[in-house]
Amino acid sequence: MRSQPAPEAPTTLLDELISDVCAGLAGPGQKRLPSRYLYDDLGTALFEAIGYLPEYGVTRADERILRCNAREIIQAMGPQPLTVAELGSGGGRKTRWLLEAMGTRRSISYYPIDISKAALERCALELGRLPVVRVEPIEADYRDGLSLIASRRRADERLLLLFLGSTIGNFEPPEAREFLREVRGRLRPGDGFLLGTDLVKPAATLIAAYDDALGVTAAFDLNLLRRLNRDLDAEFDLENFYHEARWNAEERRVEMHLVARMAHVVWIHAIGLGVTFRAGESIWTESSYKFDSDEPERISKVLPFTPAGQWLDREWPFAESLLIAR
Ligand SMILES: C[S@@+](CC[C@H](N)C(=O)[O-])C[C@H]1O[C@@H](n2cnc3c(N)ncnc32)[C@H](O)[C@@H]1O
Repeated sequence: MRSQPAPEAPTTLLDELISDVCAGLAGPGQKRLPSRYLYDDLGTALFEAIGYLPEYGVTRADERILRCNAREIIQAMGPQPLTVAELGSGGGRKTRWLLEAMGTRRSISYYPIDISKAALERCALELGRLPVVRVEPIEADYRDGLSLIASRRRADERLLLLFLGSTIGNFEPPEAREFLREVRGRLRPGDGFLLGTDLVKPAATLIAAYDDALGVTAAFDLNLLRRLNRDLDAEFDLENFYHEARWNAEERRVEMHLVARMAHVVWIHAIGLGVTFRAGESIWTESSYKFDSDEPERISKVLPFTPAGQWLDREWPFAESLLIAR
């Protein structure tokens, strides 16, 4: 009899956090943590608030585009019935314009995928009020969420997959290429992929967007240390760190860093790790890459997509691009 490999226990978000903290904070090089840990309940609420800051134009630009062009975007998907899914939906504030533009004649399934339970609750509250929309929240990582949708969607419906807010900019470029390849692998010919990309703009505008005068983005960033204190019994003193936004012109990305004010050691008791900081040393917590408007066209040259439309915001240069799976 052939032996079966023992079934692997599913990894939890806490297991992944431990592994990312060990990989990102224990070594001698640049300290780093994945940006997805910014979104606990408080982080989610702070990100929602960031969307209203005068300095952060991304959310408003994206919403203006969707509000003004939703009907055209939906028409570009053709007459077949649609299922809608969204990667990293957040509270879904902008998505309602698209769902409303789909009309009221038949019921629409909408699958928001997010690791933040708080974001999904808000999204269900916000969009569940629309008359014909059935909101089916999926609390999962993007990849797991996508595979769940592939198994659940109806055979006779096209999928419109949304990836708004330039969240693709949080991926490192090789990671983004791999992720987009996986996304395309989950789509069937005729499915749509609506991708929001924030465009390059002057450095001062970008720095202000990620380091606002009220300090909301600083609180969003520093909350990551509070999360480590809570989830891993760590001893970060938030007073010993400050938030910094840096524009890396060569790489075309805004980086968020938490910078140590002085040399010190921070214990993370749950994993028995003492993390040593030099004065001025930072934890790199997020990258937001900025793009040219022809980026989606470039994607369609390397992956089987056909560009089906692009909508731009002039006030805050931002692009929404619809790619149809070939
Ligand atoms: C930059 S916010 C964008 C929210 C919203 N789409 C918007 O445009 O305002 C990123 C969202 O993706 C979620 N998220 C981050 N990493 C994720 C991951 N690996 N899997 C699933 N959701 C993730 C966060 O919880 C957050 O709601």
